[in-house]
Amino acid sequence: MAAPASDALVLFGATGDLAYRKIFPAVQALIRRQNLAVPVVAVGKATWGIERLRERIGASLDEFGYAGDGASRRALLDSVRFVEGDYNDPDTFARLATALDGARRPLHYLAIPPSLFPIVIERLPANGGRFDSRVVVEKPFGRDLHSARELNRVLRARFDEASVFRIDHYLGKESVQNLLYFRFANSFLEPVWNRNYVERVTISMTETLGVEGRGRFYEEVGAIRDVVENHLLQVVAHVAMEPPVSRAVDSLRDEKFKVLQSIRTLSAADVLRGQYAGYRSEPGVAPDSTVETFAAMQLHLDSWRWSGVPFFVRAGKRLADTATEVLVELKSPPQAVFGEAAPQGANYFRFRLGPDRVAIAVGARAKKAGTDMVGREVELSVYNGAEDEMSAYERLIGDALRGDPTLFAREDAVLEAWRIIDPVLATSTPPEPYAPGSSGPAAAEHLGRRAAQDR
Ligand code: BG6
Repeated sequence: MAAPASDALVLFGATGDLAYRKIFPAVQALIRRQNLAVPVVAVGKATWGIERLRERIGASLDEFGYAGDGASRRALLDSVRFVEGDYNDPDTFARLATALDGARRPLHYLAIPPSLFPIVIERLPANGGRFDSRVVVEKPFGRDLHSARELNRVLRARFDEASVFRIDHYLGKESVQNLLYFRFANSFLEPVWNRNYVERVTISMTETLGVEGRGRFYEEVGAIRDVVENHLLQVVAHVAMEPPVSRAVDSLRDEKFKVLQSIRTLSAADVLRGQYAGYRSEPGVAPDSTVETFAAMQLHLDSWRWSGVPFFVRAGKRLADTATEVLVELKSPPQAVFGEAAPQGANYFRFRLGPDRVAIAVGARAKKAGTDMVGREVELSVYNGAEDEMSAYERLIGDALRGDPTLFAREDAVLEAWRIIDPVLATSTPPEPYAPGSSGPAAAEHLGRRAAQDR
C-alpha cells in the first residue's frame, strides 16, 4: 500500500542560502509541474516578518526558479506561513504546531547547520500524538562515524526509519538516474563491466568556484566530508553495484549498500589532500587552516566483480574546470593487429554527470581514411539534457512528500560510508598547496586520469 502523502512542508532554515538557491525554486517547480498544494511553513531565526520573507522567496524564484510563471509563484507566496524564533526555545515549536493548523502529516526539512540537528529533531511535533511527521535531514549527516551513529540514535528515538529521509542531492540528479538506467537497461555493458575488462575507474568532481562565502561552513567539513563521503561514494555505488532484483525500494538500496561494504577502510596514507592558495584568506577561514579543498584517493573494492580494479576518486574546488564525470577505462586489446599499440585508455565509457553537457559517451578507435591501417580516437556520445529538466531537489522533495525513500540514503549505508573514510578525518598532515585554476596538487597526478574533457 502506498504511504500517505504529507500534508504540509515545514522548512527549517528558511532564511538560509540552501532554501534560497534550491528549495524554494524546487517547491515552485513542484507546484507548477505536479500541482503540489500543501501549505509551506517556513521556520527561521531571523525576525523578518512575513512580508520580508515573501520578498526573499520572490527574489529566489526570480534568480533560480520560473520567473515568468506567475501562477506557481503566487501559489507559493500565498501558501507560505512564517514561524520566527530560536530553535532552542520550546515556544518556537508550540507556534509551529499552531501554524500547522489542520495538517497531520507534515514533512520537516532541516536545511540548517548540522550542529542544530539534535536540538530541532528532539523538539519536532511528536509522532504518535496529533502528528505523523516525516523528516528530511540535509548533509553532512554527522561529522564522522561516531557522530553519525549518535545522530541516528537521536532520529530513531523519535522517528522510524521509514519517516527519515537523509538527502543527498546527487541521488536525485537526472544524470545519476540515467547512469543507473543505462547500466541495467542494456545488455552490452554487463559482459565487460568487471575486473576482466575494466582497467580502472575514475570519478572526479572538479569545480572552478572556491568556497564562495561559505568559509565558516567549509572549515567544519572540508572536501572529504562535503562531497566524497556522500555524493561521490554514492556515485561509486551506482557504478559498481550488482543488478537490483527489481525497482523495489530496498532492492536498489541493498545493492548499493553491498558496494559500500566491499570498500576497504581508508588510511591517511591512501588519501592526498590539497588546499588552494588563497583559501586561508577567505572570510571565515582560519589563517592557519589545514582543511582540505581537494582530495584524491584510490579505493579498493573487495568483491568478485571488482577485485584488483582501482577506483580513483578526486574532488576539489578552484580547479581548472567544473565537471563531474565517471570514466570507466577498459583494458587495451591483447594484440596490436595493425602494428600500432593503441594508447592506454582508448576504450572507455564516460558519464558526464554535470553541470552541463550531461552525456554518456563511448571512446573507441576508428581507422583514419587513407591507404594505411592507422587509427584515431573517436567518441560516440549521446547528449541527454532536456529543456525544463527536473532538478534534483524537485525530484527528492516530491519523493519525500509522497513518502518514497528510494533515492535517500539508508541508515546502514550512511554509517558504512563514514566507516570507509573515518580514519582519514583525524589527519593532521598539512594539505599540499595548489594554484587556483590548476588541476590540483602535482602529486595527485598519478591518482587516476583526469576527466575526459581535459584530454
Ligand atoms: C554540495 C556541496 O553538496 O554540492 C558544495 O556542499 C558543492 O560544496 C555542491 O559545490 C556541488 O553540487 P552540484 O550539483 O553543483 O555538482
